Amino acid sequence: MAKALITGISGFVGSHMAEFLLKKNIEVVGTIRHRSRMNHIEHLLQDIRLIECELRDPFSVESLIGEEKPDYIFHLAAQSFVPTSWNSPIDTIHNNVAGQVNIFEAVRRFQLDTRIQIACSSEEYGQVEPDEVPIREDNPLRPLSPYAISKMAQDYLGYQYYKSFGLHVVRTRTFNHTGPRRGENFVTSNFAKQIADIEKGKRAPIIYVGNLEAKRDFTDVRDVVRAYWLALQNGEPGECYNIASGSCCTIKEMLELLLSYSNVQIEIKEDPTRLRPSDVEILLGDYSRFHQTTGWTPEIPFEKTMLDLLNYWRSF
Ligand code: GDD
Repeated sequence: MAKALITGISGFVGSHMAEFLLKKNIEVVGTIRHRSRMNHIEHLLQDIRLIECELRDPFSVESLIGEEKPDYIFHLAAQSFVPTSWNSPIDTIHNNVAGQVNIFEAVRRFQLDTRIQIACSSEEYGQVEPDEVPIREDNPLRPLSPYAISKMAQDYLGYQYYKSFGLHVVRTRTFNHTGPRRGENFVTSNFAKQIADIEKGKRAPIIYVGNLEAKRDFTDVRDVVRAYWLALQNGEPGECYNIASGSCCTIKEMLELLLSYSNVQIEIKEDPTRLRPSDVEILLGDYSRFHQTTGWTPEIPFEKTMLDLLNYWRSF
C-alpha cells in the first residue's frame, strides 16, 4: 500500500486531500502542530495517522521523514492568508520557506525517491498586464505581497532541488480555490459566513467588504486535490503547472451570486480595514499545460461550490 504524507492535514485543503487519498486506498499520515484545530478532520481520525511536527524545526522534520519514508508528500502546510503577511512579513516568509527546505533536505539526506507536490500560488504572478491574461506559466512574476514572495521562494526552491539533487518535485501554482471548510478570513468564506449569520439573526443585515473590483479565478477545492494527485502521477518533475478554472469574476459578482441564494435583504458596506496596501487586480489562469500533461479539467461548477460553501456555514 502506497503511503502519503500530508503536511497541514488539519487545514482546509489538507482535510480534502486526506479524504481523496483514503478513497484511493492510500495510507495517509499527516502533520499537525500542538495548536492545530481538529474540527476539519474529526470524521477521518479512525483512518489516518497524525504526527505532531513543527516543520520549521529541521530535526523534527528529519526524524519524521526518516521514520515514515513516504511515497508521496503533499506539502500543504503554510501561512496562506495574504493580509497576515503584511502584518508580519518575516513570519510568513520563515514559516513557508523554512518548512519546505527542511522537507527537501530530509528527503535528500535519506536519498528517498519520494514524489513531492508543493503548493505554490497564482499570487506569485502579482501585477498582471491586460494583454497577459489568461496567465501562462512563463509569465513574469511581479509579486505584490510578502506572501507572494514566500511562495516564489518555495516555487524556485522546488526547481533548484530538482536541478541540483534530482528531487521529484512538482510545483503546482494554484489559483484561488474554495469550498466547504474554507477558513473564514478568505473572501468567499467570509462573505458566506456573514450571510449565514445574518440569516440566523446573529448579526445586523449589513455585509462588510473590502475591494470588490479585484478579479479572481476560483476552482473548487475538491477539483484541486484531484489535480494534486494527478500532478504526482503524471507531472514532470521540476516543472510548474497552473491549476485554475480558466474563467474569472469580480469579487462583487461572487458576492452577488452568494446573495442570490439568500432571501434576506442585505446592505453592502465597505470596511477600510479590509483594503490592502497593494492588491492583485486580476488573476485568470491558463491551465492548458497541466491539462495536456494529466488530462485534468475542473468539474465542479462555481455555482455549486458557492452554494455548498454557504450551506456549510448555515449548518453551524
Ligand atoms: N479576505 C478578504 N476579505 N478579501 C476581500 C474582502 C474581504 O472582506 N473584500 C474583498 N476582498 C478581495 C481581496 O482584496 C482580494 O482581492 C480578493 O478578495 C481575494 O481575497 P482572499 O480570499 O483573501 O484571497 P487572495 O486572492 O488574497 O489569496 C488566495 O488565493 C491565492 C491564490 O491566488 C489565498 O487562498 C492564497 O493562499 C492563495 O495562494
